[in-house]
Amino acid sequence: MTLPEQHPLVSGRTADSSLIRSYRGERTAPLPVWFMRQAGRSLPEYRALREGVAMLDSCLTPAMASEITLQPVRRHRVDAAIFFSDIVIPLKLAGIGVEIVAGRGPVMDAPVRTAADVAALPELDPAALAPIEEAVAMTVAELGETPLIGFAGAPFTLASYLVEGGPSREQLRTRALMHSEPEVWDRLLAWTADVTGVFLRAQVLAGASAAQLFDSWAGSLSLTDYRERVAPHSERALDHVRDLPVPRVHFGVGTGELLAAMRDVGADVVGVDHRIPLDEANRRLGGGTPLQGNIDPALLSAPWPVLEAHVRDVITRGGEAPAHVVNLGHGVPPETDPDVLTRLVDFVHTSTSGTGE
Ligand code: CP3
Repeated sequence: MTLPEQHPLVSGRTADSSLIRSYRGERTAPLPVWFMRQAGRSLPEYRALREGVAMLDSCLTPAMASEITLQPVRRHRVDAAIFFSDIVIPLKLAGIGVEIVAGRGPVMDAPVRTAADVAALPELDPAALAPIEEAVAMTVAELGETPLIGFAGAPFTLASYLVEGGPSREQLRTRALMHSEPEVWDRLLAWTADVTGVFLRAQVLAGASAAQLFDSWAGSLSLTDYRERVAPHSERALDHVRDLPVPRVHFGVGTGELLAAMRDVGADVVGVDHRIPLDEANRRLGGGTPLQGNIDPALLSAPWPVLEAHVRDVITRGGEAPAHVVNLGHGVPPETDPDVLTRLVDFVHTSTSGTGE
């Protein structure tokens, strides 16, 4: 299938942006920069808009989701918008009871742990995605030449919320289930792969120019478990957008040992957290994969000269890769001073404006 004629990649609005060119493997000057979790609590205009509105309700109110997506683009002049939503939205749209508890994260009404629980998982009616499609369409109409990145949670991270019933540090029950009941595990991951894949595809068809899969908790897995029991399902999630001509980005936290396996599920770009330098990540990937990352979010609160020296180092090491999209190693911490992010965008742009073709 091809994208609709009015899609920004097809009409040419975003095809030549520094983000899309970099995702396709071209070195640009200046380098593109955006931040995971750029939309959200670091911005006073976000906190004002969200007052009295539950997190997931704000995601399902198209005008609100669209406005929140645009806020950091206007303020920081980042090179991409990331769609304001959450990885648990497709679960909610399928009818799973889930809420986001402030300061904690997604909490399920009931955990999913047994064969019967998995058999009872509901179908996701594609019509339920209408608020997502509407929010994306409204957003790309405003964005002009700035690409919108669509995203989804990877099956392992989503399954860990379902199995644990909420956030957990080590995903112990999840990893136990993976080994104790491999068939139940496979059915659960196949289900999450399909709902999250459908969510991602809806964003791309409605106007997103790239697709990022977040496997935030995959760092708790061994390479063998990842390759054998998780990667096939991440591949299945990405299969939902494989026929569409958008770059696919795959990001995980603490996944230095998994980088090549994460690329091998069919990602064009690998997101790297701050725990491994980009030149080493590039070496592990064999030198042919565009990278995204990896400023340590902790340094956003350090004195500017400390942050600046770190960012220069990230850019220098990223220079080893075929292409580099500057980002954080994980999301923007809520207490970040937004002016630091604006200054950082400006610094990345001015300091890299003469290094490419
Ligand atoms: O700017 C952006 O990155 C866009 C929006 C976005 C959100 N969540 C909004 C959000 C994205 C891409 C996500 C993805 C997401 N959600 C991930 C993967 C990325 C990552 O951070 O590892 C995960 C694991 C989740 C699940 C989730 N949702 C967590 C762990 C939390 C944090 C809980 C808290 O309150 O600290 C959330 C809530 C959430 N998602 C918020 C936002 C802006 C904060 C809630 C609020 O503002 O009230």
